[in-house]
Amino acid sequence: MLVTLNDFLQQALTNKCAIPAFNVFGYEDAKAVIDAAEEMQSPVILATNKVAIHYMPIDVIGGMLVQMATKARVPVVVHLDHGQDYETVAQAIAAGYSSVMYDGSALPFEENAKNTKDVVKLGHAFGVSVEGEIGSVGYSDSTTGSTGSLTDPHEAKAFAEETNVDALAVAVGTTHRMETQSATIEYHLIESIQKYVSVPLVMHGSTGLPDKDLQQIAEMNFCKVNIGTAIRMRFGNSLRKEIHEKPNVFDRLELFRIPMHEVKQEAIHKINLLQTNQLC
Ligand code: G3H
Ligand code: ZN
Repeated sequence: MLVTLNDFLQQALTNKCAIPAFNVFGYEDAKAVIDAAEEMQSPVILATNKVAIHYMPIDVIGGMLVQMATKARVPVVVHLDHGQDYETVAQAIAAGYSSVMYDGSALPFEENAKNTKDVVKLGHAFGVSVEGEIGSVGYSDSTTGSTGSLTDPHEAKAFAEETNVDALAVAVGTTHRMETQSATIEYHLIESIQKYVSVPLVMHGSTGLPDKDLQQIAEMNFCKVNIGTAIRMRFGNSLRKEIHEKPNVFDRLELFRIPMHEVKQEAIHKINLLQTNQLC
């Protein structure tokens, strides 16, 4: 069934667990993630980022994901990840997304807060959950110039109060698109943020987190954990192997079978670490 992020945030906070948001780009990875969640009896978040909605119009991919979520035997949130502007967020809401992120983390504080507040008003008017970001989780590759900046706890408090966001992404040591689990988390910073901010927190760039850190942050105030690269690598590497090992197969449905299974296994592993199945 299709649910909003708000349906689970407080429960995740109380139960000291987190819901994974997997970045998906089409039917195959979305189906594998839902299969994993159904097997684990766990809620899950399907997230589409700017690359996904640039490739496929937002109403097309959103419409498909909403249908898949509605038919799923577990609660599924359909989430716009790193929404860059008000118009994109509005299009996502019109397409049926139950949750959106507005990412103004590259902007000065006041501008980020003002834009986020506008998005919160819009989202809440339609019963859609809204995530904002303060501080900035950078990128480990050359796709953007952003190296990021850690979150200031006082700014986080002011931002949460001013915007009324449902969930707050903070930068505490991870970087987007890491291909190894080698991020170093600033636990003192998390503790300090938690002192000032009661809003459920969101971890971005979670592919880079070692398994033990993933478990640990789920027990803290992180209720949503974004994972993209880990499943993209699992799908892509296994597809490459399939094509290499089966030179006579040209049917994409056959070539996608094992990569989809690999994505499902990766999603099950992360759901296990995050203890998300407590929420169903
Ligand atoms: O918003 C998406 C995530 O932060 C994914 O990051 O690809 O490094 O796991 P990742
Ligand atoms: Zn992110």
